[in-house]
Amino acid sequence: MTNLIEIEDVSHAYQTASGPLPVLDGLNLSVPEGKFCAVVGPSGCGKSTLTRLIAGLMFPDRGEVRLHGEVIRSPRKSVGMAFQNPVLLEWRTILNNVILPLEIVAPRMPRAKREERARELLSLVGLEGFEDKRPSELSGGMRQRASLCRSLVHKPDILILDEPFGALDAFTREDLWQLMHQLRSEEPFTALLITHDLRESVYLADQVVVLSGRPARTQFVLDIDLPGPRPIEMLYNTQSVEWLAQLRAQIEIAQGRSDPRNSTP
Ligand SMILES: Nc1ncnc2c1ncn2[C@@H]1O[C@H](COP(=O)(O)OP(=O)(O)OP(=O)(O)O)[C@@H](O)[C@H]1O
Ligand SMILES: [Mg+2]
Repeated sequence: MTNLIEIEDVSHAYQTASGPLPVLDGLNLSVPEGKFCAVVGPSGCGKSTLTRLIAGLMFPDRGEVRLHGEVIRSPRKSVGMAFQNPVLLEWRTILNNVILPLEIVAPRMPRAKREERARELLSLVGLEGFEDKRPSELSGGMRQRASLCRSLVHKPDILILDEPFGALDAFTREDLWQLMHQLRSEEPFTALLITHDLRESVYLADQVVVLSGRPARTQFVLDIDLPGPRPIEMLYNTQSVEWLAQLRAQIEIAQGRSDPRNSTP
């Protein structure tokens, strides 16, 4: 299987008033085409920085970030992004918010085609009938569904999700996890999810990467070899409980609360 994203020996420091702040240090990570990779790690270790490097919004001091084998040297149109705060534009209807990326990426696409594509996705996520509403008229979970549609409307090569479910209540969050599996089976895509929720990572991902504390490097990789959509009950089976315990132990190490020599991954 070919890798869609390859991050090789990447280091990066921010220049701050008090000097350079090293954030990533020799980070390695690869995501095969069509796979779902979850990245977990302590707060402030550099996860959002990593998403900006993949989107081509920033470039590393050292090492390479490659998409389809090509080093990223400019912002990528073939990336879709969704964040904890859906940032929908209040002066646009839900339909027009979802269409927005197509106006930028496919300006020649006829209006009717853009609408058709956006309506198709909105119906897939259960927002049929809300196309003409404004963002403030929707609940938080509905806004996040609309935001997911907007990030997928232009059929990106890669979907980058930076804690998109973090602000939602537990039930809505589980609904959206299941929706992610449904969206993937309807229209396969490659995804990189940043999350603080280990259950979310085990339920959604094919591969969970644990980053160390800042400056971050890859500390641990867990492969979750389960095909297709998963029933939510899988989180309670013996295998998942074991995976969650392994990840929890790795996070403790990343936070410097546990000695790596005591861990048996
Ligand atoms: N533009 C910037 N200039 C200077 N420092 C920055 C900048 N952006 C981020 N940082 C610092 O870099 C470090 C990593 O930030 P980043 O946002 O990548 O962390 P994170 O892992 O996403 O954190 P969280 O889990 O809290 O979202 C933090 O210490 C942050 O303060
Ligand atoms: Mg972040």
